[in-house]
Amino acid sequence: MSEVLHSPAEVKIWRHSKKGSVGFVPTMGALHAGHEELLRRARKENDFVVLSIFVNPTQFNDPTDLEKYPKTWEQDLEMAKRNGVDAILFPQYKDMYPDGYRYKVTENEYSKLLDGAHRPGHFDGVLSVVMKLFNIVSPTKAYFGEKDYQQMTLIQGMVQAFFMDLEVVPVPTVREKDGLAMSSRNTRLSKEQRALAPAIYKAITESASAEEAAAKLSSQGFAVDYVTDIGPRRFVAAKLGEVRLIDNVQI
Ligand code: PAF
Repeated sequence: MSEVLHSPAEVKIWRHSKKGSVGFVPTMGALHAGHEELLRRARKENDFVVLSIFVNPTQFNDPTDLEKYPKTWEQDLEMAKRNGVDAILFPQYKDMYPDGYRYKVTENEYSKLLDGAHRPGHFDGVLSVVMKLFNIVSPTKAYFGEKDYQQMTLIQGMVQAFFMDLEVVPVPTVREKDGLAMSSRNTRLSKEQRALAPAIYKAITESASAEEAAAKLSSQGFAVDYVTDIGPRRFVAAKLGEVRLIDNVQI
């Protein structure tokens, strides 16, 4: 049975009543096979599993993207039950932001690159909400997909910088058969766009350079925000119509 809890206070009471490790999977809902993998890992490695579903407005720089973010509560609940989730945190904005977002967490270097350069304020919103969620849930381990590699790395850095008592566990990207990285935004692609989308993974894995990958994607009709190599990883963000897709691979 997955218990649905709405307020941070309820979750804290729930947490204090539990002895044992808690695996935490923070999400914005519209759960897919990538999230299911996070839940499976959390279930395997902990005594209890907490899932949060909260579409966090402070991390959306584009109001249309926020408005169109898919919501699939019934299916999400099914997936939670199927994977033995003990508690679901399903709060509202006023529960998460009693301060009206007067306080925020900012990282000043890595968060300014890649997605940060194209989505002003995005990582402030992510880090702030994740800090809040960690303080509410007090997890032993928290699970993040490597699809959002920059996000995962920034959260790991925040945990270290603020001496937070938990482990951030990176989980490899889950892909469709054709290579497209699983993402809640994929459901917003038209049939034609969905057929084109696997070109992203193909371009970043098969090109000799970031420039070559960017050129291939542009010539196929993608609006490329960036293809950038940092250390051993290649990162990409590109739009098909209104839908912005990201991915990254080890090179
Ligand atoms: O990756 C996401 O779904 C979100 O950025 C997160 C980590 C749940 C914070 O809102």
